[in-house]
Amino acid sequence: AVGSGVAGWAVGDEVCALLVGGGYAERVVVPAGQVLPVPAGMDVVTAAALPEVVATVWSNVAMCAHLRPGETLLAHGGGSGIGTMAIQLGKALGARVAVTAGSEEKLSRCAELGADVLINYREQDFVEEIRKATDGRGADVILDIMGAKYLERNVEALAVNGRLAIIGLQGGVKAELNLNTLLRKRGAVMATTLRSRPVAEKAAIIAAVREHVWPLVENGRVRPVVDRLVPMADAAEAHRVLESSDHVGKVLLVRE
Ligand SMILES: NC(=O)c1ccc[n+]([C@@H]2O[C@H](COP(=O)([O-])OP(=O)(O)OC[C@H]3O[C@@H](n4cnc5c(N)ncnc54)[C@H](OP(=O)(O)O)[C@@H]3O)[C@@H](O)[C@H]2O)c1
Repeated sequence: AVGSGVAGWAVGDEVCALLVGGGYAERVVVPAGQVLPVPAGMDVVTAAALPEVVATVWSNVAMCAHLRPGETLLAHGGGSGIGTMAIQLGKALGARVAVTAGSEEKLSRCAELGADVLINYREQDFVEEIRKATDGRGADVILDIMGAKYLERNVEALAVNGRLAIIGLQGGVKAELNLNTLLRKRGAVMATTLRSRPVAEKAAIIAAVREHVWPLVENGRVRPVVDRLVPMADAAEAHRVLESSDHVGKVLLVRE
Protein backbone atom coordinates (compact mmCIF):
# COMPACT_ATOMS: atom_id res chain seq x y z
CA ALA A 1 0.00 0.00 0.00
CA VAL A 2 1.07 3.61 -0.50
CA GLY A 3 0.20 6.25 2.13
CA SER A 4 -1.97 9.21 1.21
CA GLY A 5 0.11 12.17 0.10
CA VAL A 6 3.06 10.00 -0.96
CA ALA A 7 4.29 10.87 -4.45
CA GLY A 8 6.61 8.86 -6.68
CA TRP A 9 5.54 5.35 -5.68
CA ALA A 10 2.64 3.18 -6.83
CA VAL A 11 1.15 -0.10 -5.60
CA GLY A 12 3.05 -2.93 -7.32
CA ASP A 13 6.44 -1.16 -7.54
CA GLU A 14 9.31 -3.45 -6.57
CA VAL A 15 11.16 -1.69 -3.77
CA CYS A 16 13.72 -2.16 -1.04
CA ALA A 17 14.06 0.12 1.96
CA LEU A 18 16.05 1.36 4.90
CA LEU A 19 13.84 0.14 7.71
CA VAL A 20 13.24 1.84 11.03
CA GLY A 21 13.97 -1.57 12.60
CA GLY A 22 11.66 -4.57 12.82
CA GLY A 23 12.96 -6.28 9.70
CA TYR A 24 12.12 -9.81 10.85
CA ALA A 25 8.66 -9.47 9.35
CA GLU A 26 6.69 -10.23 6.21
CA ARG A 27 5.18 -6.75 6.05
CA VAL A 28 6.72 -3.48 7.19
CA VAL A 29 5.77 0.18 7.18
CA VAL A 30 8.50 2.55 6.01
CA PRO A 31 8.63 6.35 5.65
CA ALA A 32 8.45 7.13 1.91
CA GLY A 33 11.84 8.85 1.97
CA GLN A 34 13.52 5.59 2.98
CA VAL A 35 12.27 3.61 -0.02
CA LEU A 36 14.45 2.79 -3.03
CA PRO A 37 13.58 1.06 -6.29
CA VAL A 38 14.97 -2.45 -6.76
CA PRO A 39 17.96 -1.77 -9.06
CA ALA A 40 17.36 -2.70 -12.70
CA GLY A 41 18.31 -6.31 -13.40
CA MET A 42 18.38 -7.37 -9.74
CA ASP A 43 15.94 -9.66 -7.93
CA VAL A 44 14.09 -8.27 -4.94
CA VAL A 45 15.71 -10.64 -2.40
CA THR A 46 19.27 -9.67 -3.40
CA ALA A 47 18.26 -6.00 -3.33
CA ALA A 48 17.39 -6.43 0.35
CA ALA A 49 21.13 -6.72 1.04
CA LEU A 50 21.72 -3.14 -0.10
CA PRO A 51 19.94 -0.32 1.75
CA GLU A 52 21.41 -0.68 5.25
CA VAL A 53 25.04 -1.18 4.25
CA VAL A 54 25.01 1.28 1.36
CA ALA A 55 23.35 4.00 3.46
CA THR A 56 25.76 3.40 6.36
CA VAL A 57 28.90 3.41 4.24
CA TRP A 58 27.87 6.28 1.95
CA SER A 59 26.68 8.54 4.79
CA ASN A 60 29.91 8.03 6.74
CA VAL A 61 32.60 7.70 4.11
CA ALA A 62 31.27 10.11 1.46
CA MET A 63 28.96 12.52 3.29
CA CYS A 64 30.65 12.82 6.73
CA ALA A 65 34.32 11.97 6.08
CA HIS A 66 34.40 13.31 2.49
CA LEU A 67 36.71 10.62 1.10
CA ARG A 68 38.39 12.03 -2.01
CA PRO A 69 40.03 10.44 -5.06
CA GLY A 70 43.63 9.46 -4.38
CA GLU A 71 43.12 9.23 -0.61
CA THR A 72 43.50 6.03 1.43
CA LEU A 73 40.50 4.48 3.16
CA LEU A 74 41.08 1.89 5.91
CA ALA A 75 37.97 -0.23 6.52
CA HIS A 76 38.08 -2.53 9.52
CA GLY A 77 36.34 -5.89 9.13
CA GLY A 78 36.63 -5.98 5.33
CA GLY A 79 34.70 -9.26 5.13
CA SER A 80 31.65 -7.94 7.00
CA GLY A 81 28.43 -6.75 5.39
CA ILE A 82 29.64 -3.18 5.93
CA GLY A 83 33.23 -3.94 4.91
CA THR A 84 32.37 -5.58 1.59
CA MET A 85 30.41 -2.45 0.64
CA ALA A 86 33.08 -0.06 1.98
CA ILE A 87 35.70 -1.66 -0.27
CA GLN A 88 33.56 -1.24 -3.38
CA LEU A 89 32.37 2.30 -2.63
CA GLY A 90 35.88 3.36 -1.59
CA LYS A 91 37.20 2.16 -4.95
CA ALA A 92 34.31 3.80 -6.80
CA LEU A 93 35.22 7.10 -5.09
CA GLY A 94 38.75 6.75 -6.47
CA ALA A 95 40.45 5.89 -3.19
CA ARG A 96 43.03 3.28 -2.31
CA VAL A 97 41.40 0.81 0.06
CA ALA A 98 43.04 -1.03 2.95
CA VAL A 99 41.17 -3.60 5.02
CA THR A 100 41.62 -5.63 8.17
CA ALA A 101 40.21 -9.15 8.60
CA GLY A 102 40.92 -12.14 10.80
CA SER A 103 41.73 -14.75 8.15
CA GLU A 104 43.53 -15.13 4.83
CA GLU A 105 40.32 -16.47 3.30
CA LYS A 106 38.43 -13.29 4.15
CA LEU A 107 41.32 -11.15 2.96
CA SER A 108 41.34 -12.88 -0.41
CA ARG A 109 37.60 -12.19 -0.77
CA CYS A 110 38.37 -8.55 0.04
CA ALA A 111 41.03 -8.51 -2.68
CA GLU A 112 38.49 -9.87 -5.19
CA LEU A 113 36.24 -6.94 -4.31
CA GLY A 114 39.07 -4.49 -5.03
CA ALA A 115 40.91 -4.02 -1.71
CA ASP A 116 44.50 -2.90 -2.34
CA VAL A 117 46.06 -3.45 1.09
CA LEU A 118 45.24 -6.58 3.09
CA ILE A 119 45.97 -6.70 6.81
CA ASN A 120 45.44 -9.80 8.95
CA TYR A 121 44.67 -8.23 12.33
CA ARG A 122 45.44 -11.49 14.14
CA GLU A 123 49.02 -11.56 12.83
CA GLN A 124 49.87 -8.00 11.90
CA ASP A 125 49.74 -4.57 13.54
CA PHE A 126 47.42 -2.48 11.40
CA VAL A 127 49.10 0.81 12.39
CA GLU A 128 52.46 -0.44 11.16
CA GLU A 129 50.98 -1.98 8.01
CA ILE A 130 49.01 1.13 7.03
CA ARG A 131 52.13 3.27 7.51
CA LYS A 132 54.18 0.89 5.36
CA ALA A 133 51.51 0.97 2.65
CA THR A 134 51.32 4.79 2.59
CA ASP A 135 55.01 5.79 2.84
CA GLY A 136 54.45 6.69 6.48
CA ARG A 137 51.48 9.02 5.85
CA GLY A 138 48.66 6.91 7.32
CA ALA A 139 45.01 6.56 6.32
CA ASP A 140 43.02 9.64 5.31
CA VAL A 141 39.73 8.04 6.34
CA ILE A 142 39.14 5.10 8.69
CA LEU A 143 35.76 3.37 8.88
CA ASP A 144 35.79 1.68 12.27
CA ILE A 145 33.52 -1.00 13.71
CA MET A 146 35.58 -1.79 16.84
CA GLY A 147 35.13 1.36 18.94
CA ALA A 148 37.10 1.56 22.19
CA LYS A 149 39.50 -1.30 21.47
CA TYR A 150 40.87 0.41 18.35
CA LEU A 151 40.46 4.10 19.23
CA GLU A 152 44.02 4.88 20.19
CA ARG A 153 45.56 2.83 17.37
CA ASN A 154 43.09 4.25 14.84
CA VAL A 155 44.18 7.79 15.71
CA GLU A 156 47.83 6.68 15.41
CA ALA A 157 47.03 5.24 11.97
CA LEU A 158 45.43 8.48 10.71
CA ALA A 159 47.22 10.73 8.24
CA VAL A 160 47.47 14.48 8.83
CA ASN A 161 43.95 15.88 8.31
CA GLY A 162 42.62 12.32 8.67
CA ARG A 163 39.02 11.49 9.59
CA LEU A 164 38.02 8.57 11.83
CA ALA A 165 34.38 7.51 11.46
CA ILE A 166 33.26 5.13 14.21
CA ILE A 167 30.11 3.15 13.40
CA GLY A 168 30.47 0.03 15.55
CA LEU A 169 31.33 -0.68 19.16
CA GLN A 170 32.29 -4.36 18.94
CA GLY A 171 35.37 -3.62 21.03
CA GLY A 172 33.62 -1.62 23.77
CA VAL A 173 32.46 1.92 24.46
CA LYS A 174 35.05 3.46 26.80
CA ALA A 175 38.64 4.24 25.88
CA GLU A 176 41.44 6.67 26.61
CA LEU A 177 42.83 8.85 23.86
CA ASN A 178 46.00 10.88 23.73
CA LEU A 179 44.54 14.13 22.40
CA ASN A 180 48.00 15.38 21.57
CA THR A 181 48.24 12.76 18.83
CA LEU A 182 44.90 13.90 17.43
CA LEU A 183 45.68 17.60 17.47
CA ARG A 184 49.14 17.20 15.96
CA LYS A 185 47.41 15.47 13.06
CA ARG A 186 44.58 18.01 12.90
CA GLY A 187 42.44 14.89 12.96
CA ALA A 188 38.69 14.44 13.36
CA VAL A 189 36.85 11.69 15.21
CA MET A 190 33.18 11.27 14.37
CA ALA A 191 30.67 8.63 15.38
CA THR A 192 27.22 8.02 13.95
CA THR A 193 24.39 5.57 14.03
CA LEU A 194 21.91 5.41 11.20
CA ARG A 195 19.04 4.05 13.29
CA SER A 196 18.81 7.11 15.58
CA ARG A 197 18.95 9.73 12.83
CA PRO A 198 15.77 11.79 12.26
CA VAL A 199 13.52 10.75 9.36
CA ALA A 200 14.54 13.82 7.32
CA GLU A 201 18.26 12.92 7.60
CA LYS A 202 17.56 9.33 6.58
CA ALA A 203 15.61 10.62 3.58
CA ALA A 204 18.54 12.87 2.60
CA ILE A 205 20.94 9.91 2.84
CA ILE A 206 18.64 7.69 0.76
CA ALA A 207 18.27 10.46 -1.86
CA ALA A 208 22.07 10.72 -2.05
CA VAL A 209 22.38 6.94 -2.31
CA ARG A 210 19.84 6.85 -5.15
CA GLU A 211 21.70 9.61 -6.98
CA HIS A 212 25.29 8.44 -6.48
CA VAL A 213 25.29 4.72 -5.67
CA TRP A 214 22.29 3.26 -7.53
CA PRO A 215 23.86 4.00 -10.95
CA LEU A 216 26.99 2.10 -9.81
CA VAL A 217 24.84 -0.86 -8.78
CA GLU A 218 22.89 -0.77 -12.05
CA ASN A 219 26.05 -0.76 -14.16
CA GLY A 220 27.54 -3.64 -12.14
CA ARG A 221 30.41 -1.68 -10.59
CA VAL A 222 29.05 -2.21 -7.09
CA ARG A 223 27.27 -5.39 -6.06
CA PRO A 224 25.72 -6.70 -2.89
CA VAL A 225 27.72 -9.53 -1.35
CA VAL A 226 25.28 -12.16 -0.05
CA ASP A 227 26.78 -14.98 1.98
CA ARG A 228 23.61 -17.06 2.26
CA LEU A 229 19.82 -17.01 2.47
CA VAL A 230 18.22 -18.39 5.62
CA PRO A 231 14.48 -19.09 6.00
CA MET A 232 12.86 -16.68 8.44
CA ALA A 233 11.82 -19.58 10.68
CA ASP A 234 15.54 -20.39 11.15
CA ALA A 235 16.51 -16.87 12.25
CA ALA A 236 18.38 -18.34 15.22
CA GLU A 237 20.63 -20.21 12.77
CA ALA A 238 21.33 -16.91 10.97
CA HIS A 239 22.42 -15.44 14.29
CA ARG A 240 24.72 -18.41 14.92
CA VAL A 241 26.38 -17.80 11.54
CA LEU A 242 26.93 -14.11 12.37
CA GLU A 243 28.26 -14.91 15.83
CA SER A 244 30.73 -17.47 14.49
CA SER A 245 31.79 -14.91 11.85
CA ASP A 246 32.04 -17.58 9.13
CA HIS A 247 30.21 -15.35 6.68
CA VAL A 248 31.41 -12.82 4.13
CA GLY A 249 28.91 -10.06 3.36
CA LYS A 250 25.25 -10.30 4.27
CA VAL A 251 23.09 -13.10 5.64
CA LEU A 252 19.50 -12.60 4.41
CA LEU A 253 16.34 -13.89 6.02
CA VAL A 254 13.78 -15.00 3.43
CA ARG A 255 10.13 -15.97 3.54
CA GLU A 256 9.70 -19.73 2.99
N1 LIG B 1 26.40 3.00 13.02
C1 LIG B 1 25.62 2.49 12.09
O1 LIG B 1 24.78 3.19 11.53
C2 LIG B 1 25.77 1.05 11.70
C3 LIG B 1 24.96 0.49 10.70
C4 LIG B 1 25.17 -0.85 10.34
C5 LIG B 1 26.15 -1.60 11.00
N2 LIG B 1 26.87 -1.01 11.99
C6 LIG B 1 27.93 -1.76 12.73
O2 LIG B 1 28.91 -2.13 11.80
C7 LIG B 1 29.52 -3.34 12.25
C8 LIG B 1 29.52 -4.34 11.11
O3 LIG B 1 28.18 -4.72 10.82
P1 LIG B 1 27.90 -5.94 9.86
O4 LIG B 1 26.45 -6.15 9.80
O5 LIG B 1 28.64 -5.73 8.61
O6 LIG B 1 28.54 -7.10 10.76
P2 LIG B 1 29.16 -8.51 10.44
O7 LIG B 1 28.95 -8.88 9.00
O8 LIG B 1 28.69 -9.43 11.50
O9 LIG B 1 30.72 -8.27 10.64
C9 LIG B 1 31.40 -8.16 11.83
C10 LIG B 1 32.88 -8.16 11.43
O10 LIG B 1 33.70 -7.76 12.51
C11 LIG B 1 34.99 -8.26 12.19
N3 LIG B 1 35.90 -8.18 13.32
C12 LIG B 1 35.78 -8.79 14.52
N4 LIG B 1 36.84 -8.47 15.29
C13 LIG B 1 37.63 -7.64 14.55
C14 LIG B 1 38.86 -6.98 14.81
N5 LIG B 1 39.50 -7.08 16.00
N6 LIG B 1 39.40 -6.21 13.82
C15 LIG B 1 38.76 -6.06 12.63
N7 LIG B 1 37.60 -6.67 12.34
C16 LIG B 1 37.04 -7.45 13.29
C17 LIG B 1 34.69 -9.68 11.75
O11 LIG B 1 35.74 -10.10 10.91
P3 LIG B 1 36.63 -11.44 11.16
O12 LIG B 1 35.71 -12.63 11.06
O13 LIG B 1 37.60 -11.36 10.06
O14 LIG B 1 37.21 -11.30 12.54
C18 LIG B 1 33.39 -9.51 10.95
O15 LIG B 1 33.64 -9.44 9.55
C19 LIG B 1 28.74 -3.80 13.48
O16 LIG B 1 29.47 -3.40 14.61
C20 LIG B 1 27.44 -3.04 13.37
O17 LIG B 1 26.86 -2.79 14.62
C21 LIG B 1 26.70 0.28 12.34
